Amino acid sequence: MDTINKKPKMKGIILSGGTATRLFPLTATTSKQLLPVYDRQMIFYPLNTLVKAGIKEILMIVAPEHSGQYLNLLGSVFKTHGIHLYFEVQKIPRGLADAFILGESFIGRSNVTMILGDNIFEDDFSDDIKNFVSGGKIFAKKVTDWQRFGIVKFDENKKAIEIVEKPKEWISDFAIPGLYIYDKHVSSAAKEVVPSERGEIEITSLHNYYLEKNELEVGVVEGAWLDAGTFDTLLEAGNIVKEKKLSEKFDPLINQAIAEFNEELKILAKKKLS
Ligand code: G1P
Repeated sequence: MDTINKKPKMKGIILSGGTATRLFPLTATTSKQLLPVYDRQMIFYPLNTLVKAGIKEILMIVAPEHSGQYLNLLGSVFKTHGIHLYFEVQKIPRGLADAFILGESFIGRSNVTMILGDNIFEDDFSDDIKNFVSGGKIFAKKVTDWQRFGIVKFDENKKAIEIVEKPKEWISDFAIPGLYIYDKHVSSAAKEVVPSERGEIEITSLHNYYLEKNELEVGVVEGAWLDAGTFDTLLEAGNIVKEKKLSEKFDPLINQAIAEFNEELKILAKKKLS
C-alpha cells in the first residue's frame, strides 16, 4: 500500500513580519527582510534555502505595511518557474510559533520547513529537508552570545536534553538558528503554547513539545549563519556573501527569476522615459 507509506509533501514558510526596531531608520521605509544584502534583497537568501531543497509551495508571512512591496518583488516571476508563493498578513507579531497558526490551512496534512526571513545560511539543507519524515528537526550552531538565542544542551552522547529560550544562566553554547522542520502536528501544538514573559508564543515551546515526545532531531550548522539584525551584522552579512560568493551558489531557478524581474523593471523604466 504505497499511499499509506508515502512521505507527506514538504511545504515552506518564510516568516518576514516584525518591526525590526534595531535597524531604525532603515526599517521605517521598508521591511528588514527587503533590505539589500550585497546584490539582492535579504529575503532571497531564505527563499533560496527552501527552493534548493525542492520546496514548491511557500507561504510568506508579512507585516501589513509591507505586503505590497513583497507582492511587487515576488508576486509575478516565480510561478512561471513552478514555485507558488502565497501571502499571509500578520497584523501583530505574536511570536515565531504564530506562523504555524496563521499557516494552519496552508500546511494541512503536509510537513513544513519554516525559515526566518533574516536568516542567511551558507550550508545547503536540502538533504535534511528532503529526507525528513516526521517529528521535528532543528539545528545547532556554536555561539559566544548564548543569551540572545534559543539554546540547546546536549548530553555526552550528543543527544539534546534541554532547550531554553534566551537562558538567564548558561546551559550551553549551542544556539538554535531560524530553520525548523516539523510535521503536520505543529499547528495544533502551536495553539496550545502559553505566551512567555515577553508575551510571545515561543518557537522554543514547539521544540520542547517534540523533545518531550522524543521526536526531535538536532542537526549541526557547519557553515556561516547570519541574522542581519543590527547595522554591524547587516554589513557583515553583505561582506560574507560577497567573500564566499554565496549569490553564485543560488539555485539557478532563483537567479533566473531575479534576472527576469530585472529585465521587466528595465523595460518598464524605458517605457516611462519615452
Ligand atoms: C528567535 C527565536 C530563538 C532563535 C532566534 C534565531 O529569537 O526565539 O529561539 O534562536 O530567533 O535567530 P528572536 O529573534 O525572536 O529574539
